[in-house]
Amino acid sequence: MKKLFAAFVMAALPAFAFASGAGVHLDKVDIDLTDKAAMQDGARTFANYCMGCHSAKFQRYERVADDLGIPHDVMLDNLVFNDAKIGEHMKIGMQPADAKNWFGAAPPDLTLVARVRGNDWLYTYLRTFYEDTARPLGANNKVFPNVGMPNVLVGLQGRQYIGCKQVQVVEDGKKLFDPLTGTPITHEACDQLVVEPKTGQLSAEEFDEKIQNLVTFLAYSANPVKLKSQRIGTYVLLYLAFFFVFAYLLKREYWKDVH
Ligand code: HEC
Repeated sequence: MKKLFAAFVMAALPAFAFASGAGVHLDKVDIDLTDKAAMQDGARTFANYCMGCHSAKFQRYERVADDLGIPHDVMLDNLVFNDAKIGEHMKIGMQPADAKNWFGAAPPDLTLVARVRGNDWLYTYLRTFYEDTARPLGANNKVFPNVGMPNVLVGLQGRQYIGCKQVQVVEDGKKLFDPLTGTPITHEACDQLVVEPKTGQLSAEEFDEKIQNLVTFLAYSANPVKLKSQRIGTYVLLYLAFFFVFAYLLKREYWKDVH
């Protein structure tokens, strides 16, 4: 009986782990793991804005450079900010114990985070930090309430806070439009994320694209062989298609006198 209970708890654990994000709407993101320009941009954002606190210690700089088509010297000059060599793992100097003191939680390694959380979760998380004076570092997050991480992208996105804005009316899951003019029917809602205009370097679209690129890089990092498997998969299918022709001809040859 005890064993059965233990087995049940183990089986149910993943469900609890994800329960924290339940009920929050996640924005969908399209990830293209063949888009090297996107991944290069994401790698740059990662090195500049994330590696102060997060490592990607299961990944090597060299592997990233080679996979994304970045020459080694460019990689070392622009994406490596400590004295690491090209073949080294992407570790950082911050000690987890210090970090826990400063932020209340240690920043986890991000090599595999895309597999743990999913791309949509990451895309939404990174775009939904907002000002909250009740938090020690002045920031909170929509999908990760009371997160320890400060809003590190505020300079790019601008100051985001919870405020009022016009949103489209949705009834039974359908967005409503004015039947005569075709314009969306809106109402004012006051639990919305609003960005203070002109407080960030990027427009809303540019910021979304930056984050999409960053998530693309994290998705690659969580599964670096995916690119290769897809390429090999294509060759295998091509080979099978090619082989099929001969197999078919051979079958015709064998069966031609059988009636
Ligand atoms: C100033 C330090 C700092 C910087 C810079 C930083 N983070 Fe964080 N991050 C944290 C801390 C601390 C946590 C842990 C939060 C918690 O558990 O409450 C965290 C948590 C996360 C998580 C949640 C991980 C999980 O599954 O629980 C993700 C994803 C993340 N950070 C991504 C990023 C990305 C991407 C960047 C760069 C744009 C970044 N972080 C920059 C400190 C930082």
